[in-house]
Amino acid sequence: MPRPLEALIHLDALHHNLQRARECAPDARVWSVVKANAYGHGLTRVFEGLRATDGFALLDIAEAKKLRELDWRGPILLLEGVFDARDLEWCSRLGLWHVVHCDEQIDWIAQHKTEWPHHVFLKMNTGMNRLGFKPPAFRSAWARLSALPQVDEVSMVSHFSDADSRKGIEQQVGIFQQYTADLSGERSLCNSAATLRHAQDPKVRGDWIRPGVMLYGASPDYPEHDARHWNLQPAMTLRSKLIATQDLQAGDTVGYGSRYIAQGPTRIGVVACGYADGYPRHAPDGTPVLVDGVRVPIVGRVSMDMLEVDLSQVPQADIGSEVTLWGQGPTIKGHPTSLDIDEVAQHCGTIGYELMCALSPRVTVQVCESHAA
Ligand SMILES: Cc1ncc(COP(=O)(O)O)c(C=O)c1O
Repeated sequence: MPRPLEALIHLDALHHNLQRARECAPDARVWSVVKANAYGHGLTRVFEGLRATDGFALLDIAEAKKLRELDWRGPILLLEGVFDARDLEWCSRLGLWHVVHCDEQIDWIAQHKTEWPHHVFLKMNTGMNRLGFKPPAFRSAWARLSALPQVDEVSMVSHFSDADSRKGIEQQVGIFQQYTADLSGERSLCNSAATLRHAQDPKVRGDWIRPGVMLYGASPDYPEHDARHWNLQPAMTLRSKLIATQDLQAGDTVGYGSRYIAQGPTRIGVVACGYADGYPRHAPDGTPVLVDGVRVPIVGRVSMDMLEVDLSQVPQADIGSEVTLWGQGPTIKGHPTSLDIDEVAQHCGTIGYELMCALSPRVTVQVCESHAA
């Protein structure tokens, strides 16, 4: 028997979440962001669930090739553009659209020999200070690109630093508007947080939105809003089983470093899931887990292959009981149960993005048409 740990990828949830992005930005087209192997879900695995998208945005040419092998003929955007002049050959061959964020990339394009002019997305640095041209340089880059025979369309893109929080996007939108008002070309500004919180404004929405994490069913502005608030469904469930139980007396400890000390008689369960599976080692006591659909706390340090939970709230639990680390739990007495990846992440001092991206290759993954797996 293989270990009872598995991840489920829910195609219906991906489809639903993509529809949610469309509802938030009705006239815009959608770049489904599938970088980092579709945020840990697996590019090939999510493909069917996101097939209704208008385009896929990612970083690696290898991932773009994979999409073409899956017979995706629509647009693919390289979010960081090319890393080297030779990558342009792949852009020509695979028909990739690419972000241009620095002068060197324009120099490479100017020297590139291609039969097919490229569609580029020129990036403005409106305050994130990661990639992109500062506004005045953006305008000269736009003029330079527009004059190149290797380029047939120049779209415009920027990225928000605070779309998920109170600081918001106003200042960045203002700068973008000011410096692009008289330039022709499509626009793309919104990540998930901006799509959910701000895309009702047409000048924010632009022509293309770029949702990532919301497609996978996590909330970009947790804990202010959870996935339920945004009507998003988890696209990944990580589930396992109890493989042992232990009865503790007061003073007994659990796991490495004896971090947890039982205050009285306590029954604990041992779950087949550890940090080598991608579960965070630094999860503190109290991090929630579902056992047979009931929330119970982690006790003791997470080890490589196992973690332990307090079974006081589920006395009937035993070896073989179902454990949900995040995502969809079992249906109990007609009620579906679930545990948000965002909540687990918050206990661990991180965000849902990091947990989903960290799913280890050793975890068996099953692709499901629906939640009822
Ligand atoms: C340029 C760009 N656009 C869109 C996204 C999607 O962001 P999110 O997953 O927050 O929707 C990212 C992700 O970091 C990004 O770097």
